[in-house]
Amino acid sequence: MTDAIRRHDPLVKGFASDNYAGVHPEILQAIALANEGHQTSYGDDVYTGALQEVFRGHFGPTAEAWPMFNGTGANVVALRAMTAPWEAVVCAESAHIHTDEGGAPERSAGLKLLTVPTPDGKLTPALIDRQAWGFGDEHRAQPKVVSITQTTELGTLYTPAEIKAVCDHAHQLGMLVHLDGARATNAAAALDVPLRAFTTDVGVDVLSFGGTKAGLMFGEAVVVLNPDAVRGLRYLRKTSMQLASKMRFVSVQFEALLAGDLWLRNARNANAMAQRLAAAVREIPGVEVPRPVQANAVFAILPPDVTERLQKRFRFYTWNEATGEVRWMTAFDTTEADVDAFASAVAEEINSCA
Ligand SMILES: Cc1ncc(COP(=O)(O)O)c(C=O)c1O
Repeated sequence: MTDAIRRHDPLVKGFASDNYAGVHPEILQAIALANEGHQTSYGDDVYTGALQEVFRGHFGPTAEAWPMFNGTGANVVALRAMTAPWEAVVCAESAHIHTDEGGAPERSAGLKLLTVPTPDGKLTPALIDRQAWGFGDEHRAQPKVVSITQTTELGTLYTPAEIKAVCDHAHQLGMLVHLDGARATNAAAALDVPLRAFTTDVGVDVLSFGGTKAGLMFGEAVVVLNPDAVRGLRYLRKTSMQLASKMRFVSVQFEALLAGDLWLRNARNANAMAQRLAAAVREIPGVEVPRPVQANAVFAILPPDVTERLQKRFRFYTWNEATGEVRWMTAFDTTEADVDAFASAVAEEINSCA
């Protein structure tokens, strides 16, 4: 028995973020399974040991997984390990590392981010070239890493061929490729390909692999696909405060997610619910869906008074105050009933403001 009190209504769900969702019950079971008894701390436990095989099953025999607490930490550690102090990272202007990490790459890793505006959150060889120049010029931070996000912050998806083109181009320039895969499972499900098809197989060097949005309580992993691309990751994880002492509880969650098909079931559900939501709201006059819905994000443009009223009933974020664009995320636990109730609420608020 616990003295804790349930302080929230478990029936209330929103569309603010896939990390508003709780923990998948199979993950909670796995945490309980790993509990009791003692295990060596800091990753020298049997669960973290076993995890390497699980990751290699997905990403190939050279993959090495480094469990971390969160996505910002995984990105910072990965980028620190891939760069020397004079080197820089090329990324989209919309990249999470640039917009949503509080300056952690700059502050904690001392990294210069060279950003590029993109129409859809995706980098291409031509867009990379807008910042990948000045090699050998001591006055310019040396472009070393191209960081892309899959799925992107704008809900779009790179095909494996598009990522291959990015990797080939970066490698020709002597650069490396980091992929922020906070939603890599959603991408694999949407593309209907194995996780390695848009990572290992097309030349990505290092991946930040997301667990939290896929159904974990917490946990992300830096997955090194090219061992020559990193230096000192073991030490950088610790100095970046991402080394969990009770690491078995991060690792066992990843085992539960990745050893079977839980990752795919969760991602497929989230993606399908986004499609259902997009289809429903496209039918409502006054709602515009301005971006392709390719994974588990739906962007919509609504009149501001509708947004205001709707936000009193459901949680979601305004993406762009100026255009009235909002973002709706679906999660592993979003149900058809949740989507239908929300779409009805959108229609009601549009009608009542008309
Ligand atoms: C693209 C992307 N990368 C990384 C993260 C991870 O961030 P956090 O530090 O919140 O785990 C997120 C979370 O929103 C994300 O959307």
